[in-house]
Amino acid sequence: MEDYYRERAPSYDHLYRTSEWQDDFAWLQNWVTRRTAGRSVLEVAAGTGFWTAAAARRAEAIVATDYNAEPLAIAAQRGLGAHVTFLAADAYALPVFDRAFEVGMAHLWWSHVDRRRERQFLSQLAARLQAGAELLTIRGIRKTITCQRSGAIEPVIAMSCARLKTAASFKSSKTTRRPRNCKRV
Ligand SMILES: C[S@@+](CC[C@H](N)C(=O)[O-])C[C@H]1O[C@@H](n2cnc3c(N)ncnc32)[C@H](O)[C@@H]1O
Repeated sequence: MEDYYRERAPSYDHLYRTSEWQDDFAWLQNWVTRRTAGRSVLEVAAGTGFWTAAAARRAEAIVATDYNAEPLAIAAQRGLGAHVTFLAADAYALPVFDRAFEVGMAHLWWSHVDRRRERQFLSQLAARLQAGAELLTIRGIRKTITCQRSGAIEPVIAMSCARLKTAASFKSSKTTRRPRNCKRV
């Protein structure tokens, strides 16, 4: 997987030009900007920095990490400002930092986490965040789901915001979906 994304780095941002992303871009970018405003942010698997850029608008400081240097080099070219630093780092073996962060971010990453390594990933990420920190994850846009309650077909944004309750665990989490153009079947 690491090799795949290293090779794909130059063309990765085409993803965000596909039609299914267009409608919700602004909303998602604003969500990231709002939740990171004035805060220190540790991002894992940041890739080419698409969501880093949204956070950089108002975050106090960001350390954006990725396993591969290639996508980070593209992210660095965005010119996001001196408050954003990029660092090659394995999401499962993050370095120790001289501060604990207020927000963690890991977008389009969760589906790649090997379930057997989930606890390892989350616990060492949590150890680098402050108590009460938030973990923001955009998991992707599914074009449609069938809404169980209403039977409607709804385009949704799948994303979540989990709050770190203890030094080692994210206890409560909230999944937010924003139905658009709900269509009855
Ligand atoms: C689907 S991309 C998501 C990139 C970015 N977060 C976004 O939403 O556009 C997955 C990223 O995970 C990175 N990656 C793969 N394995 C990793 C690992 N073990 N640790 C950190 N990053 C990794 C890849 O280099 C790639 O940039």
